[in-house]
Amino acid sequence: RLGTLEVHWELDSTSSELQRRGTATPDLSMVLAETQSAGRGRRGRHWLSPPGLNLYLSCLKRFDTGFAALSGLSLAIGVIVLRTLESLGIAGASLKWPNDVLAAASGQTPGKLAGILVELSGEYQGPCAAVIGIGLNLRLTDVLREQAGQPACDLATLAGGTPPDRNRVAAALITALAEGLHQFEREGFAAFADEYACHDLLRDRALRLSGAGGERDGIGAGVDSRGALLLRLPNGEIQRIDSADVTVRRA
Ligand code: BTN
Repeated sequence: RLGTLEVHWELDSTSSELQRRGTATPDLSMVLAETQSAGRGRRGRHWLSPPGLNLYLSCLKRFDTGFAALSGLSLAIGVIVLRTLESLGIAGASLKWPNDVLAAASGQTPGKLAGILVELSGEYQGPCAAVIGIGLNLRLTDVLREQAGQPACDLATLAGGTPPDRNRVAAALITALAEGLHQFEREGFAAFADEYACHDLLRDRALRLSGAGGERDGIGAGVDSRGALLLRLPNGEIQRIDSADVTVRRA
């Protein structure tokens, strides 16, 4: 059921590569690179992509529902990454809305284990496509941790020192993505909501949101059926948040 699967030594970005391909690209095409010279993160950030250590994968998925129906897709991808880790016997990762996969060595602040970038194109209500980019840390060096500019974690830490074999992780991720994206196509975010709730790092935590509308404080109250963050405001009102940067406030 896969479209195509390509493994490159170096690309600027696996997501940019799929973006350039255009309409002839088969559905569920996947591109991996050993290293990226211009790996992209959310909000225009750079994604460090040295060779030999980590995984850089992008996948093109077409939908005929229009991207209005895809609001929960990036959360579902987070769940798919967790399913991948579970299939490899690795527990202990959590999800930070909208789509960060975090984990921590015992007693440490959670850091980013995987980053997810979902880019949509096409029609609001009609044919559209998602390019889903996933960067998964298997083994970080001290230099990489320093350069990351934010707390980071890797599978080696979660697995007690040695990361699982990279090809096994790639195969597990590709399988979970293909199955999970078919499931999302049939059932939407509803099929992922319970798993998301089990690993929701922001639930019942004191949060600070920043975005176009300024800053807002509240308590995380889960996510709704479309994947929007629910924030309980100091006056008890629940607000739906479609997009923001979220930090957990210290108690
Ligand atoms: C984030 O900011 O957390 C998202 C990072 C996404 C990185 C991945 S690596 C594979 C794919 N290619 C890119 O250029 N970015 C994504």
